[in-house]
Amino acid sequence: MKTYIVGNWKLNFTVGEASIYLHKLMKALPNYRDTEVVVAPSTIALQPLSLQVDRHKIKLAVQNAFYRDFGAYTGEISFSQLDGMVDYALVGHSEQRYIFGEDDKMIAKKVAAAVRNHIKPILCIGETESERAFNETADVIRDQLIGGLSEIADDDLDEVLIAYEPVWAISSTKVAKLATPDEVTDVVKLIKKTLSDTYGKKEAEKVPILFGGSVSPSNAGAYLTVPGVNGLLIGGSSLILSEFVDIIEIAKKVQS
Ligand code: PGA
Repeated sequence: MKTYIVGNWKLNFTVGEASIYLHKLMKALPNYRDTEVVVAPSTIALQPLSLQVDRHKIKLAVQNAFYRDFGAYTGEISFSQLDGMVDYALVGHSEQRYIFGEDDKMIAKKVAAAVRNHIKPILCIGETESERAFNETADVIRDQLIGGLSEIADDDLDEVLIAYEPVWAISSTKVAKLATPDEVTDVVKLIKKTLSDTYGKKEAEKVPILFGGSVSPSNAGAYLTVPGVNGLLIGGSSLILSEFVDIIEIAKKVQS
């Protein structure tokens, strides 16, 4: 399986800054066949960047979109409008869940809308600090996983990626702590088991699992060597070009 290195730029960079970053990133990267490099800029930058990007090197992701294809939904954009412009979509990021109130039902519809419009959803799941403290991690992970995938046909499972991001490890969270590789190992095992119990072992094995939460060049190698981890979802560190390139190079080394 490929290794996925996904940069989540969140609400950062003007369109001009995003374009300069992309230009520099394309220059810095050789064509790594086994590493899928993806960046998720602000939606407003996607159209120009989609014309600029060399898709052999880098793919684009949208950070969020609405689940209806068209209609009276002021302020929203749809996955159907993004069809052909992006290859991936973050769905259910914890900032959407906890700042904007997205629930598993809405997330499931977004996962289905992405798949319907030829965009691979990266379904983000993860427990909060208090859920972990109350030993609810396993239930939360199972609910978010099964809930988020509930609107797609079983046959479409191979279009989906899962990103495990413990909310307490995300760098913008005030209390951010680094997850230990052992903590990640346990949850990744649970994700695999849940997928396997629901869809069968063979199908479950095809689903890439990414880890995210304060990933940087100093810990990327450790997370990438956790059994079952196929990639990284990176926020803060992806905004610094040299760090993002370092992480891609670490991924390459871990693979070889
Ligand atoms: P972080 O963000 O790497 O800054 O912790 C990750 C994310 O929110 O996707």
